[in-house]
Amino acid sequence: MIIDGKKIAKEITDELKEKISKLDKKPNLSVILVGNNPASLIYIKMKKKACAKVGIDFDLYHFKEDEKEDVILDKIDNLNSDAKVSGILVQMPLPKHINSSKAIQRLDPTKDVDGFHPINVGKLLIGDDSAVVSCTPLGVKTLLQKSNIEVESKHVVIVGRSNIVGKPLAALLMQKKPNCNATVTVAHSYSKGLKDITRSADILIAAIGKPNFITQDMVKENTVVIDVGINYVLQKAEKTKIIGDVDFENVSKIASHITPVPKGVGPMTVAMLVQNTYTCFL
Ligand code: GUN
Repeated sequence: MIIDGKKIAKEITDELKEKISKLDKKPNLSVILVGNNPASLIYIKMKKKACAKVGIDFDLYHFKEDEKEDVILDKIDNLNSDAKVSGILVQMPLPKHINSSKAIQRLDPTKDVDGFHPINVGKLLIGDDSAVVSCTPLGVKTLLQKSNIEVESKHVVIVGRSNIVGKPLAALLMQKKPNCNATVTVAHSYSKGLKDITRSADILIAAIGKPNFITQDMVKENTVVIDVGINYVLQKAEKTKIIGDVDFENVSKIASHITPVPKGVGPMTVAMLVQNTYTCFL
């Protein structure tokens, strides 16, 4: 069965639209972009569109590639203290001369809609419900929940240990809370016997960033497969195509459920950004 992430994301944003329409004031998402990374420009366009759909004000602060770090940090200070701003997002990657940890740590954690600030990461790890949870992990958890896929007591194997997906997703699914309580294994580039690990999964989550990395032989029959990968691959005539970390064509033949790329996890990430902005506003 193919999980329709786009449809589930729409259900969530429709509900948020209804709630936001009843507010006296509109939430505001302020985005800082430095330079012109092509993928970042695409992501920002999607985020802007999603905000417009639900009635969240969206402001983009677009700086030139060689803008000084101090100017960016001052802008963050300025947005932190601006009462009309509910959420702040610093689009990654930042140019090399800007220290991204410094930028993230400068954010007011209560406006950190990405959930990247160490305060939010720490709160997630200790199960503090006031944490702003990173959008992709929250999107994966919500996608499973809305698809009636129970994670409790299941063996969830996450391939990839990034700070934005693998690590926070492991922390989220292992929590002693409803819709969590999973047994989580995190595999990565140094893991030995990867195939044995992935084949032991009830739910396999690919977040590696390598096109078609998960092949059919790495997946046991009737496994739930969630593909977090967004890889831009060059096609004929200079066209780019987006593909996931999972060999969808072959793995979909044996998986019990699988998310496609695009229209799987991607729309859920955007929906969770909208949800986090609304939650930060409240
Ligand atoms: N770049 C790629 N994904 C993300 C994301 O989720 N948040 C931010 N801020 N930058 C990104």
